[in-house]
Amino acid sequence: MDPNRGQYQTIVSIIDDQKLMSDPLVYLNGDFLPLTEAKIPVLDRGFIFGDSIYEVIPVYGKRLFRLDEHLDRLNNSLEATRIPNPYPESEWKKILSQLVMKNEAEDQSIYLQVTRGVAKRDHAFPEHVVPTVFLMSNPLVVTSEEMFNKGISAITLDDIRWRYCNIKATTLLPNVLLRQTALDEGAQEAILIRGGEVTEGSASNIFIVIDGHIQTPPKSARLLPGITRDLVVELANQNGLTCVEANFSGTELEAADEVWITSSTKEIMPVVMLNDEPVGDGTPGTITRQMYQIFQSYKTELKKEYD
Ligand code: PDD
Repeated sequence: MDPNRGQYQTIVSIIDDQKLMSDPLVYLNGDFLPLTEAKIPVLDRGFIFGDSIYEVIPVYGKRLFRLDEHLDRLNNSLEATRIPNPYPESEWKKILSQLVMKNEAEDQSIYLQVTRGVAKRDHAFPEHVVPTVFLMSNPLVVTSEEMFNKGISAITLDDIRWRYCNIKATTLLPNVLLRQTALDEGAQEAILIRGGEVTEGSASNIFIVIDGHIQTPPKSARLLPGITRDLVVELANQNGLTCVEANFSGTELEAADEVWITSSTKEIMPVVMLNDEPVGDGTPGTITRQMYQIFQSYKTELKKEYD
């Protein structure tokens, strides 16, 4: 019996679940091939140690959004983990745009992962190893007005992660456990608190509004420098909404008039319930709405520039 059969069937059922008519093309180590044919040796250090980093890049109307910023962060993650960058920037751009074009959806979410490579299991860095590079595309469900109006509920949890949260590492077990705890409690996101200060969500950055002022924690090793976060700070300041990058406590979070999270897949998502209490009146607040509109206009303007 084919030893890969179980895994193959799982992948096929994932594809069935997504109701995809065909096997989507992915990129693995220099080749584009169907997802069901993409295989990685079990000794890959990404699998054995979680010795790998990743990026998630949104695509709107087949255009990679904030690509240079994502490639800069990719480079930072590779440098911080001492994984050699397998390609120059021009090659990354070529592979990414080819992958976007080979996939049907207009709006996509590109997942990109680089592992240290395949080697006999040993904690020490192996010599002469070639990084494994994997990219796939999934259709991106853009936050609609309906989804925005509904918002999400969140709970606060102790930030149990390591001390290099600025590295976009695939070693995400704490994030997975935290997110699942939130789901088990009937919430959609966990907002994390370290040493009394709010850091970020399990897979998102966080913003609050107090007395009309927007606030988000400053960039540090305690949180991922979100590309959406940076854009929101930039757009807020350009549009006369003051945004302060300063730490705040869990108590301040609970007292905030408005709360939202940001990420490449959720854009700007209001938190309308926090720890089972409504945030403000339990609906997305005025400044959150303004920010969402500014963000959507920015996307529309960008599209016009390209067309
Ligand atoms: N996660 N903080 C964490 C811990 C994250 O995992 C993410 C995104 C963000 C937001 O970053 P950005 O705006 O660059 O997407 C912040 C991605 C979407 C994921 O893991 O799927």
